[in-house]
Amino acid sequence: MILVTGGAGFIGSNFVLQWLASQGEPVVNLDKLTYAGNLRNLEIVRGDARHVFVRGDIDDPELVAQLLRDHKPRAVLNFAAESHVDRSILGPAEFVRTNIHGTFNLLEAARAYWGKLAGEAQRTFRFLQVSTDEVYGSLGAKDAPFSETTAYAPNSPYAASKASADHMVRAYHHTYGLPTLITNCSNNYGPYQFPEKLIPLVILNALAGKAIPVYGDGQNVRDWLYVDDHCSGIRRVLEAGQPGEVYNIGGNCEKANIDVVQTLCATLNELRPAAKPYASLITHVKDRPGHDRRYAIDASKIRRELGWKHAQNFAGGIRSTVGWYLANADWTESVTSGEYQKWMSANYRERGAAA
Ligand code: NAD
Ligand code: TYD
Repeated sequence: MILVTGGAGFIGSNFVLQWLASQGEPVVNLDKLTYAGNLRNLEIVRGDARHVFVRGDIDDPELVAQLLRDHKPRAVLNFAAESHVDRSILGPAEFVRTNIHGTFNLLEAARAYWGKLAGEAQRTFRFLQVSTDEVYGSLGAKDAPFSETTAYAPNSPYAASKASADHMVRAYHHTYGLPTLITNCSNNYGPYQFPEKLIPLVILNALAGKAIPVYGDGQNVRDWLYVDDHCSGIRRVLEAGQPGEVYNIGGNCEKANIDVVQTLCATLNELRPAAKPYASLITHVKDRPGHDRRYAIDASKIRRELGWKHAQNFAGGIRSTVGWYLANADWTESVTSGEYQKWMSANYRERGAAA
């Protein structure tokens, strides 16, 4: 079996669902259930004996050691993290604790466990760190996309915490020989994404008739990948990646934020027409401090060496994502109660937008 951390969050839950739908191997899912974790994301596999959910912290040494001892996984995949840049700006401490110290704790536990394995089990064990393209910093308009050899230059506390964790993973391979893999992926979107991130936030604000907040001039560029493609890329890296290697994952899909927002509005106009076009709600608000201008991933290594390529294009992915949020109003209601409202006022009121 495999041990997945953060499997009740956006990407982790999509990964667990895809994994159990496509192969028989069981999953132990360790998740703290922070504001971003939600067992409703895993409703499809409720009662499935191949899915063992454990509520707990990746930064808890005894718990992680016990899970490794009890379940003897052949791999640890670390999705667990604090993941939102704006939250890292308003409160970086939890990012240092979970993303850096939590990853360190997992590495220590994995090193002890792996050290006691023998033969084939030791040779085939993997520790896979799910990371982000944000560790590479910001690109100028004409710069080449990030490759695996681009120097790390993280700009936000979130990116710095992920970069730090990646360095520890690298060091555990280099120093102790732990068979590690790192994936650095671009911005994801799709079902179950918590509506603090751009795409679900735009969909929900538009449906509620609220202002759609665009930071600064809206010309910041992100490289978008449908979440199922990220999950299939991770599976491929786990299956065939070389220990100690890094693989960038992306879908070659750079878009300015304002274009993403316009596409979402146009899709909503079509699927859920309102009295006024949704684009009339677009409001430019105060920019994010230190806002990275452009991210772009060069995914040629994973394609060349492992034969992986994204399957979903942006138009199809956005359509199915908007469709999912329209069809799952009960899910969105369940995640947009108390705590979410507090975040919306904290982040947007000071930007001059009605939350
Ligand atoms: P998310 O915020 O939706 O989910 C994070 C999950 O981790 C939640 O279920 C949360 O409860 C859990 N968690 C947080 N702290 C924990 C702790 N101390 N112990 C155990 N569980 C804990 O995040 P996501 O968007 O699904 O991102 C998953 C991973 O992918 C992260 O490592 C992130 O850095 C990386 N990533 C995200 C994106 C993206 O666009 N969202 C892109 C590239 C990489
Ligand atoms: P986000 O989804 O937070 O992802 P990241 O910061 O990790 O790339 O933001 C995506 C882009 O959208 C980023 O350039 C910031 C911008 N943005 C807005 O313009 N308005 C918003 O309300 C949010 C949340 C993000």
